[in-house]
Amino acid sequence: MVAWYPWIELLHLACAIVFVGAVAFEVLVLEGLHKQFDVATMQRIEQSVMARVRRFMPVVVALLFLSGFVIFDVSCDGLQCVGSRFGNWLVLKVVLAFGVLGVFVSAVRASKRGKMDICRFRNTHRVVLALMVGIVFIAKTMRFI
Ligand code: HEM
Repeated sequence: MVAWYPWIELLHLACAIVFVGAVAFEVLVLEGLHKQFDVATMQRIEQSVMARVRRFMPVVVALLFLSGFVIFDVSCDGLQCVGSRFGNWLVLKVVLAFGVLGVFVSAVRASKRGKMDICRFRNTHRVVLALMVGIVFIAKTMRFI
């Protein structure tokens, strides 16, 4: 095992915490504010949050995926593990991660074009959070199931 490998794992975990944490904040905290503010105020809050998130999240997501590929290469020994039980769970995890990436990229594009309304904003975050719960569950159990 190369000396820098634990750092790559740590980077992957740290980026996952920031990415999942931001989405959880949006679903669990921001959505709860809808009852307290009118639609226009809520739209301004959500646009400001999105503008702030757009500044750093693309870098976090890029590092999450890059580190993911390195960990994949090491823990799967290239593509050797594919077909084994662990390998199949790992492939499912990666497929779900690409699902998240697809939804994330289309949401960032829509918000840049000003096409992100409250309904889409809310649904996007719910779908992404559900996928992420699945990814983290698989990540932490795939060696044992
Ligand atoms: C939304 C994107 C992703 C999230 C939230 C995520 C989350 C996680 C988490 C929480 C872990 C456990 C880390 C630990 O306990 O130290 C993990 C492990 C791992 N992830 Fe990801 N990940 C994502 C994307 C990816 C991608 C795109 C790949 C590969 C291309 C990948 C490959 C791996 C591998 C190989 C492991 C280690 C599994 C093991 O050997 O036990 N991940 N991931």
